[in-house]
Amino acid sequence: MSRRWEPDIPKVWDEDALRDWATPLAGLNVPPTHLSAKEYYSFKIENLRTYPVYFPGREPEGYREMLERVGPQPLIEPDKLQTEDDWVNAGKLVFEQADFLHLRSRDPKFIEEARSREQLQRAGVRPLPDGTLVGLRWVPTREGLAISSANCSFCHTQNLPDGRRIPGAPFRTTAPRPPATFRVWPMISRVQAEKHVLVGSPPFYMGPEPIGIWLYRAYGVPWTGNDILEQLKSVTQEEYETLDLAPRTSGALLRWNGSPFFPAKIPDLIGIKDRKYIDHTATHLHRGIGDLMRYAALVTSAESTQFGSYRVVSSETKRTGLRLPDEALFSLALYIYSLQPPANPNPFNEKACAGQAIFRREGCPSCHTPPLYTNNKLTLASGFQVPKDKPVSLDVLDIRVGTDPGLATKTRKGTKYYKIPSLKGLWYRGHYLHDGSAASPDEMFDPDRLNDDHVPGGWMPSGTKTRAISGHPFALRLRDEEREQLLAFLRTL
Ligand code: HEC
Ligand code: HEC
Repeated sequence: MSRRWEPDIPKVWDEDALRDWATPLAGLNVPPTHLSAKEYYSFKIENLRTYPVYFPGREPEGYREMLERVGPQPLIEPDKLQTEDDWVNAGKLVFEQADFLHLRSRDPKFIEEARSREQLQRAGVRPLPDGTLVGLRWVPTREGLAISSANCSFCHTQNLPDGRRIPGAPFRTTAPRPPATFRVWPMISRVQAEKHVLVGSPPFYMGPEPIGIWLYRAYGVPWTGNDILEQLKSVTQEEYETLDLAPRTSGALLRWNGSPFFPAKIPDLIGIKDRKYIDHTATHLHRGIGDLMRYAALVTSAESTQFGSYRVVSSETKRTGLRLPDEALFSLALYIYSLQPPANPNPFNEKACAGQAIFRREGCPSCHTPPLYTNNKLTLASGFQVPKDKPVSLDVLDIRVGTDPGLATKTRKGTKYYKIPSLKGLWYRGHYLHDGSAASPDEMFDPDRLNDDHVPGGWMPSGTKTRAISGHPFALRLRDEEREQLLAFLRTL
């Protein structure tokens, strides 16, 4: 028998590692303040298996009885893992099953709703081909069955119409409205918000305070002076819905510290191992597996609420006080590192070969350098210079590609930088540029996108019908045939 694999598991909330991890923010010149290790490790460990929610009538035989009977089961059992493969497979379960610890609810009303065909149909909820509902999970707890929302797997899995799944690839929100399952969430998060638990999902908030106050807590950037969200502080729930701010067609989903005005599309996690920075704006360094574990912990239960001297939550707001075990985050990160792209159906034929020559001729490799198709460096948002006191850990080019500077400058994720993304997996990704404003590689290289009367396939600000997708001017003046060749090449990556 082979020797047991004894991994060296980095400490997730390690103050030494946290110190230089986050990038200073534009206008504030300090990084967000992290929770202390003491506070993080005072959180109660949650380690529970979760199960898919099926559309009524589509459950396997005996499913409901099984859920009532099984009781709480551990999500990960480190003692039972022998080999590295065992750890990766355990990480697969964490990726698929981990839920939003603060969105769990045992309220019979919500449980009934998720089991009522009539209510689901009225909300327009449709099952995936295997009968399951995107994003919802059952959690058998010691106190009984709870309903919750899936964490990583929700946003970071692409569900194909034929029922296949691509774990790690971005969820595609090409529907004109958000997926209907989202409408089951408001109920749950309303209850949590009334209890003043940090819920980073304002579109779903319907608590007693004006929605604008909550929006401001989630997305406001008080140090920018002229904060665009200031005007939203007084909006009502109805106004908020008609404003339709959720960046629904961008492949983005609103998250804590994000922005309804300057969205960040969901990135592809396949290939993350080779990337030096995390997030479109390089909010954090990616120095190794510990940083990926840290990021997973951050977005699950340790979001920053303090920025320099600014506290963005109310004094009553509590944290969930729950965390996943470090072993679960380690196996999750190992699994994410192991993800492989789906088989590429696009052949490297003569046309693609001609496209490769154009890729070189147009200077793309200076930034999108093979074999990663990124040089792993940062560019500046329009109008910015390389700061004199930039941390030595950041590799910043004195280059601006001229895309919308909003995310990099007017949000709590604004660092002034946009990282140079890898082009690998471009063919299945579905949304392009940091805000997902282009919906296909064709649109990226269509010169019409620079015109004000362009109708973007992806994100558009609320209330607009046309808009120029500015910046990244490379290869926009090609002859039709050459453009086709370049696109054929890009699709092979
Ligand atoms: C509600 C949707 C959502 C959920 C849930 C979610 N993510 Fe993300 N994730 C995003 C979005 C959107 C971004 C881009 C943020 C940005 O660039 O500012 C992102 C960025 C990332 C990145 C950075 C990738 C890169 O190349 O820069 C990693 C890593 C990541 N997520 C991992 C996770 C893990 C692990 C989980 C579960 C613990 C998770 N995410 C849960 C939406 C989500
Ligand atoms: C000076 C550096 C630079 C050069 C040269 C460059 N790019 Fe980019 N590219 C970037 C940056 C930075 C982004 C991200 C911009 C953003 O998100 O706002 C990007 C984004 C992209 C994207 C969108 C990827 C995604 O997933 O969102 C594609 C496709 C792309 N580039 C292809 C090309 C091609 C093809 C060429 C050559 C014709 C090229 N780029 C030349 C820096 C460059």
